[in-house]
Amino acid sequence: MMVAMDVEESPPAYKKILSVGLLLLATFVVAKFAYALIIPRSKKRLPPTVKSWPVLGGLVRFLKGPIVMLREEYPKMGSVFTLKLLNKNMTFLIGPEVSAHFFKAPESELSQQEVYQFNVPTFGPGVVFDVDYTVRQEQFRFFTEALRVNNLKSYVDQMVMEAEEYFSKWGDSGEVDLKYELEHLIILTASRCLLGEEVRNQLFEDVSALFHDLDNGMLPISVIFPYLPIPAHRRRDQARKKLAEIFANIINSRRETGKTQNDLLQCFIDSKYKNGRSTTESEVTGLLIAALFAGQHTSSITSTWSGAYLLCNPKYMSAVLDEQQKLIDRHGNKVDYDILSEMEVLYRCIKEALRLHPPLIMLLRSSHNDFSVKTREGIEYDIPKGHIVATSPAFANRLPHIYKDPDTYDPDRYGPGREEDKAAGAFSYISFGGGRHGCLGEPFAYLQIKAIWSHLLRNFELELVSPFPEIDWNAMVVGVKGKVMVRYRRRELALK
Ligand code: HEM
Repeated sequence: MMVAMDVEESPPAYKKILSVGLLLLATFVVAKFAYALIIPRSKKRLPPTVKSWPVLGGLVRFLKGPIVMLREEYPKMGSVFTLKLLNKNMTFLIGPEVSAHFFKAPESELSQQEVYQFNVPTFGPGVVFDVDYTVRQEQFRFFTEALRVNNLKSYVDQMVMEAEEYFSKWGDSGEVDLKYELEHLIILTASRCLLGEEVRNQLFEDVSALFHDLDNGMLPISVIFPYLPIPAHRRRDQARKKLAEIFANIINSRRETGKTQNDLLQCFIDSKYKNGRSTTESEVTGLLIAALFAGQHTSSITSTWSGAYLLCNPKYMSAVLDEQQKLIDRHGNKVDYDILSEMEVLYRCIKEALRLHPPLIMLLRSSHNDFSVKTREGIEYDIPKGHIVATSPAFANRLPHIYKDPDTYDPDRYGPGREEDKAAGAFSYISFGGGRHGCLGEPFAYLQIKAIWSHLLRNFELELVSPFPEIDWNAMVVGVKGKVMVRYRRRELALK
């Protein structure tokens, strides 16, 4: 009976095993669900962290050179990894597969304001990173409007004039430091097109000296402590004040006389916010300083690299000369916006120099939301809110799965049939950033560099007499180390 009852009332062994199994499964599912609810998503798939000594280790590695660190860590860690910087985490997103969100995310998710705060004492109050995103967006609209094709056309005429005047002072032959020459010419051109003829014609020396002090006041230490009471910062602040006075006078005199000009200064004076408010004198000054900081060193560095590569690559030198000859045959000696736009070969040569040497080597954002990225190997990572997020044009522009022989100067890689900058999708070529905050001055920069180089190619035979330049990794805007000595001899490409 006992046995019979056992048989009737207890489940058979296989049923017991099944129920225990089901119970375990249910417990596992509930546990997983609870884990997902309680533990934030970001804790589950955090990017790998770079090994370094506690507290200062990450900072030391970063300060020794972010590109050296990336070269060491990328092969071990892959395209997404975190470096601990004191109390902050900096997560790198390297390559187009993982950096799309970096470029496309709205300001509410990935913002520039915190990470680019160090510009505030230089640009001054009330502009760019000192104002809310809505105001900043309007100020960037002023840039966009000021750099429209019609305005660019008149800037080009001024660029060409400046180049002609500058190089007319060279002798029939001689030796020059090309880096110094191009830096100087670009300051003059920027003064005319951006700051206006009052500065270019009467106040050039004073204003250049003040910009020099602003420049020298932006040091690596300024990124972390922008208001540290050091002499360089004091000089920066005094220079900013004096510039404000100079531009207030120019603006007032333009307003009083009703005299208008074709320059960025005039565009900023005439700009209006959506609510109808005009820009103040202080805002105009700040926006001009921002334009000069964005466009001056970047363009002069790119002009120098472009020259250095052309002078060392006879194949491309003869291709750009050929192109100039054809344009002279078609249009005579004239150079204007439309003719510069026809210089495709020269464009690709400049673009390739800029791929190998982007002056802005690191771009940063601050993350306000958790977000996920998927690597090209299919691994997903969650990047938590609060991380500084970084990408690097200098490193990403040389990824071998995007660019064939990435360290070789090969302007044809952008030509028809190859287009390596597009083949792997958007954000493969990021010297000008891209997406939401892509460079607004890109067309201006190309026009300026093309105007200079077409003049040099048409009027001089050039030879690099110093070794091929090295990279000055210590500069805030990374450029060419030392002098770039060039021997020149006057010649003229003529109508055939
Ligand atoms: C070869 C020359 C240049 C290079 C390599 C360059 C590079 C860049 C890069 C990488 C960014 C994106 C920054 C980021 O995403 O954090 C940027 C933004 C910007 N650039 Fe340039 N730039 C150049 C010339 C210029 C010039 C000539 C101007 C103006 C006259 C200019 C104005 C700007 C502005 C206003 C932005 C901010 C856009 C925004 O945040 O919406 N740039 N540039």
